[in-house]
Amino acid sequence: MKALVLREFGTMAVEEIDAPTPGAGEVRLRVRLTGICGSDLHGFTGANGRRVPGQVMGHETVGVVESVGACVDLPVGGPATINPVVGCGTCEACRAGTEQYCPTKRVIGVDATRTASFAEYVVAPASNVLPLPSAMPEAYGALVEPLSVGYHAAGRGAVGPEDRVLVLGGGPIGQAAAIAARRLGAGRVVVSEPHEGRRGLCRALGVDVVDPGAGPVGEQVSSLLDGPASVALDAVGASATVADAFASTGLGSRVVLVGMGMPKLELDAFSVSTGERALVGAFSYTSREFAETAQWVGTVPPQLSDLVEREVTADQAPAQFAELAADSAVLPPGKVLVRFS
Ligand SMILES: NC(=O)c1ccc[n+]([C@@H]2O[C@H](COP(=O)([O-])OP(=O)(O)OC[C@H]3O[C@@H](n4cnc5c(N)ncnc54)[C@H](O)[C@@H]3O)[C@@H](O)[C@H]2O)c1
Ligand SMILES: [Zn+2]
Ligand SMILES: [Zn+2]
Repeated sequence: MKALVLREFGTMAVEEIDAPTPGAGEVRLRVRLTGICGSDLHGFTGANGRRVPGQVMGHETVGVVESVGACVDLPVGGPATINPVVGCGTCEACRAGTEQYCPTKRVIGVDATRTASFAEYVVAPASNVLPLPSAMPEAYGALVEPLSVGYHAAGRGAVGPEDRVLVLGGGPIGQAAAIAARRLGAGRVVVSEPHEGRRGLCRALGVDVVDPGAGPVGEQVSSLLDGPASVALDAVGASATVADAFASTGLGSRVVLVGMGMPKLELDAFSVSTGERALVGAFSYTSREFAETAQWVGTVPPQLSDLVEREVTADQAPAQFAELAADSAVLPPGKVLVRFS
């Protein structure tokens, strides 16, 4: 089968490799589309140290159930997406449905020992395969994973109808967080994003936007929301955005750190202590949140149509990776998807 292999950091190649076969309890998907994630770009450059040369990446995918191993009761032929977080299934965290805490979890597209989705076929445990309605636009299936990250972040911030929400960063994860805040009932959502095209996309999602370069974010947010935000979802993860989150939220508010832009942050400790802000981390999602998001995406919410920028073929993908990784100024507002069939 055709696969995108990370030859060395900075070089991707389309290669013929053996197609994986599904073992007992596993499902093989014929991949249709797989999204390029920021973490794939950092894996491509070697910046995040979580990918290794020789591996196939890809964790945001939609495909068709093509064959199943023994003991799998899933019809073949229908569209499906994959929850890439594969827990051991038996530890306390997995039994609680919080596979993100499983000490031996393996993430499809990250773990080099697992088959992954920048390829014509991928194999996953049946419990990680979520069937989707045939009638929905297939590209939406590749959005379930990043949308689940945003949904989990909003959930970690306990976002509800009473909240005024600020999202820092309007990339795919910030977009997902803003959509999730709306999905959880928040009527007032503002996204802070310097990139004009991405502000435009967020506006099309029906949320307000501010440009952090246009003046103090706290003041801009306060004037849009008629007061400070009660929750901030930081989908950048830099000292500057945490500072903006503190400046834009009131005493006793929640600040969720889902962005991982910097491994170390400088932050104003008193905004947490005397300001009683709860600073909460968010990483991936629970299996329930992923399933709820897949189900929601299956209802074909209208705002999803803005999230996909373009599709490229597998043969165009190596050049696309190089282009996207080379210059953050060329970041497209929406997702780039690679088509495999
Ligand atoms: N915790 C998780 O589970 C998880 C999962 C996926 C991604 N991430 C992380 O989330 C972050 C966002 O992911 P993405 O795919 O949207 O990345 P991205 O790079 O496409 O988007 C980040 C956005 O932040 C904007 N930005 C930069 N500086 C800013 C500032 N000072 N104020 C406001 N916006 C600013 C950029 O213009 C860009 O649009 C990344 O750090 C990524 O590693 C975390
Ligand atoms: Zn991702
Ligand atoms: Zn486990």
